[in-house]
Amino acid sequence: MFTVSDRFQNLPVHLFAEVDRMKREALAQGKDVIDLGVGDPDIPTPQPIIDACVKALQNPANHRYPYQAGSMKYREAIIRFFKKRYGVSLDPVKNIIPLIGSKEGIAHFPLVFVNPGDIVLAPDPGYPAYITGTALAGGEYYPLPLLKKNNYLMDIDSIPANVINRAKLFFFNYPNNPTTGSADLNYFSRIAAFCSKHHIIGAHDAAYQELFFATPPPSFLQATNAIETSIEFHSLSKTFSMTGWRVGFAAGEASLVAGLSRIKTNIDTGLFLAIQEAAAFALDHLEELTQPAIAVYKKRRDIVVNGLNKAGFKADMPDATIYVWAKVPKDLPSMDFAKKLLDATGVVITPGAGLGKSSEGYFRISLTTSEERLREAIRRMHDFSRTF
Ligand SMILES: Cc1ncc(COP(=O)(O)O)c(C=O)c1O
Repeated sequence: MFTVSDRFQNLPVHLFAEVDRMKREALAQGKDVIDLGVGDPDIPTPQPIIDACVKALQNPANHRYPYQAGSMKYREAIIRFFKKRYGVSLDPVKNIIPLIGSKEGIAHFPLVFVNPGDIVLAPDPGYPAYITGTALAGGEYYPLPLLKKNNYLMDIDSIPANVINRAKLFFFNYPNNPTTGSADLNYFSRIAAFCSKHHIIGAHDAAYQELFFATPPPSFLQATNAIETSIEFHSLSKTFSMTGWRVGFAAGEASLVAGLSRIKTNIDTGLFLAIQEAAAFALDHLEELTQPAIAVYKKRRDIVVNGLNKAGFKADMPDATIYVWAKVPKDLPSMDFAKKLLDATGVVITPGAGLGKSSEGYFRISLTTSEERLREAIRRMHDFSRTF
């Protein structure tokens, strides 16, 4: 038995362990568990993307090391996507790097730019990789609360001067997981101005960018001068139901992209070329490939939000993402609520307390389960809500 390093010891702990244990126990007892916890699409990857990958697999040139540069086909498809969707012109070599899923890019990024003692600003609640990457780099995480009264936007005016002075990097994520909050270009321009003024790197996590039900969310790179100070992490995981393929990319200022590329050269050897070809095909057919899934999620969203509100829960109607964010009834601690709900009904939700300090009192439902099962889960939650 060996002890882990101090640095590893400092990584955030897994707060869902108890809920996971209860879920396994319920399954072992033969209970009918409905898991609304994880955001992993149940919808299969669209067939044309699979076909593009199968074709690419037949080409022996794709069997070799991809290296960081990856395939120009993928980079050029990313450039076309940025131009068409956001009106932003980028250079395929200087501004783009393929990622093995956006998580690795996010987690590796602080290692390149954060020194021990530097502060990393990031949302609370937030995707755990912001904190993991910061901890591995020896940086200090400064949480920016996402509160309903602020429409889940971070209050950048409240950051103290002594924190700003030590801040090197600023992670943020809209459309947001877990709160489902959205940001407009005005808000992004304020963040971009803040980053420019204080010489802080802006790092936007755009994982849910293309799964929207109303106005298309802007890219952070559309904000004035953002391209000079920032990087944006994109993921094909949820957009095209490709979580298992591990494919994403980062787009941004040349030295930030070069830094990320340099660390990846030292750690991995790039993203499988056949997957890059399939990803290029997917981006070139964005609208036609995402519309069917968006229609499914929209229907599920309406069922869940309306059902929860009817049952007496207070749920927000999201404009984007694959989640619903709702208030825990009767000010119960969210972890207690999650356990009681699972115990009484077999329904698994994500308690806000497991995602951050500011999200206590809330819970998240993932829309990655069939309409029929979602209806059944809501029915059980309705009955459960009457018991207290
Ligand atoms: C907010 C957010 N960012 C990034 C990711 C990482 O996605 P992937 O590594 O699959 O691209 C996720 C996945 O759940 C997420 O929710």
